[in-house]
Amino acid sequence: MEQAIGVFDSGVGGLTVVREIMRQLPNENVIYFGDTARVPYGSKSKQTVLKYSKQIVRFLRTKNVKAIVFACNTASALALEEMRAEIDIPVIGVVKPGAKMAADMTQTKSVGIIGTEGTIKSGIYTEYIRRLDPAVTVVGKACPLFVPLVEEGLLEDRITDDMVERYLSELKPYNVDALVLGCTHYPLLMNPIKRYMGEGVTLVNPAYETAKGLKEILKTKDMLNGKSDKVSYDFYVSDGVDSFKAFANEVLPVNVDEVKVVDIESY
Ligand code: DGL
Repeated sequence: MEQAIGVFDSGVGGLTVVREIMRQLPNENVIYFGDTARVPYGSKSKQTVLKYSKQIVRFLRTKNVKAIVFACNTASALALEEMRAEIDIPVIGVVKPGAKMAADMTQTKSVGIIGTEGTIKSGIYTEYIRRLDPAVTVVGKACPLFVPLVEEGLLEDRITDDMVERYLSELKPYNVDALVLGCTHYPLLMNPIKRYMGEGVTLVNPAYETAKGLKEILKTKDMLNGKSDKVSYDFYVSDGVDSFKAFANEVLPVNVDEVKVVDIESY
């Protein structure tokens, strides 16, 4: 099936999921939307995130996508389950796959979750992990300043190290051995987070399991694209084409030479 996979996030974070889709599903065409005009989602209400997610799904459907990936933990936590029934194509978020990875990985039965305020307050990671293994203790910490640091490209910076220490010092007493990067922006801060948490803590990036889950769904439904010589990747944003393009070229293994603007409010 040649139709593309639609992927979205509030900004550049979902590119970490696209990167994984490119690795695991190299024959698939992808259409990405980053809501750069309205980022961050993490501090917004459920109602607002639901409204934005619905507009984006409507936009992606105009592109005739065959499946949709909520490459945003906040939208996965606050909007996905409510919208699932209305979407008659395969749809996958990042929270369930991330929770599964963490539950499988922890030996000490102590898992940390970092994410936006919306994701952490929703308690969704705790719920999913404890459903898989009730013996696991889950400790969550919202890190609201991580998203603007990433959007500003401050991936290796003294300010970022300071913020990592400020937020993550609260997790140290819990002796977690797995830390879920519960926001798709955070894998871009993998290095400073790893430096601070140390070797004993595995950083869980839900993108890997999400791409794997997507592959399984498409395979089961016989919707995978056959071997293809020319795969297309299309990028849309709601604002800030140039900075998005520069970012995408840092993060992705392909050359992104065109990014289009969409008036997302009109969907
Ligand atoms: N990257 C998103 C997430 O995974 C949202 C970040 C934000 O917009 O606050 O939660």
